[in-house]
Amino acid sequence: MLGVFDSGFGGLTVLRAIHSRLPDVSTVYLGDNARAPYGTRSHEEIFQFTLDGIRELFRRGCPLVIVACNTSSAQALRQIQRTILPVEFPDRRILGVIRPTAEEIVSMTATGHIGVFATPATVASEAYVHELRHVRGDLAVSQIACPGLVELIESGREQSREAGALAATFCAQLLALDPLVDTVLLGCTHYPLVETFFQKHLGDRRVVSQGTIIANKLVDYLARHSDIAERVARTGSRQYLTTKSDETLSSLASRFYGETVRFETVPLNPAVS
Ligand code: DGL
Repeated sequence: MLGVFDSGFGGLTVLRAIHSRLPDVSTVYLGDNARAPYGTRSHEEIFQFTLDGIRELFRRGCPLVIVACNTSSAQALRQIQRTILPVEFPDRRILGVIRPTAEEIVSMTATGHIGVFATPATVASEAYVHELRHVRGDLAVSQIACPGLVELIESGREQSREAGALAATFCAQLLALDPLVDTVLLGCTHYPLVETFFQKHLGDRRVVSQGTIIANKLVDYLARHSDIAERVARTGSRQYLTTKSDETLSSLASRFYGETVRFETVPLNPAVS
């Protein structure tokens, strides 16, 4: 099985793209909804919670886990790959979403000015600034932290006036910082649900979501790593796990995925919620 992890529902926007590109790949999704959002938490918490989620997916037999969360990718991925993986799971692999996204979006800008909307923790890590400049050194990268947005989206209020007002504020901040931006990344897997609000305030600038980018990169990865590809089952089975116990979760999740998905609750760490 391919494991897909996010702090909550956002990774479903990536999972949907993976399912449409690789429909026969067996997947297990884990959303840590009980402890979302991660984007306003400390590095230590994000690291530990991400590790809990990855360990659970490995325990369930996944040879490969996609961390479909920018915040976890920015704050925890590298450290887990370097310090935990070789010791605890030497034959497993973890992929994040920041480097693959950076590799793709550099070619989309004509002005060389890129904007990034992301959670406060992703912005603070400067991961996008480093990764984008690593691919193309002369890029101007402007980041805007978007506190409050994930909370609204995760609770089903993504179409609210409040969400629209926040998006308007963040767009105004970005354009004040750099009016030459022509490509704007939604650098949080929750944000595709408010893409229309962002696009409305960004005119003809290109607004980019990550789902298709990550799905295409996964196809390339599996083609280049046959050892992992052979261990990812292809029965088309799909399992959805969450750390939160709540009757309304499955219907909320359907808004991200586009069709009904049924969640099972698996407390990772019952002491923390
Ligand atoms: N969806 C996640 C991301 O891509 C994080 C949201 C959060 O938990 O703050 O950053």
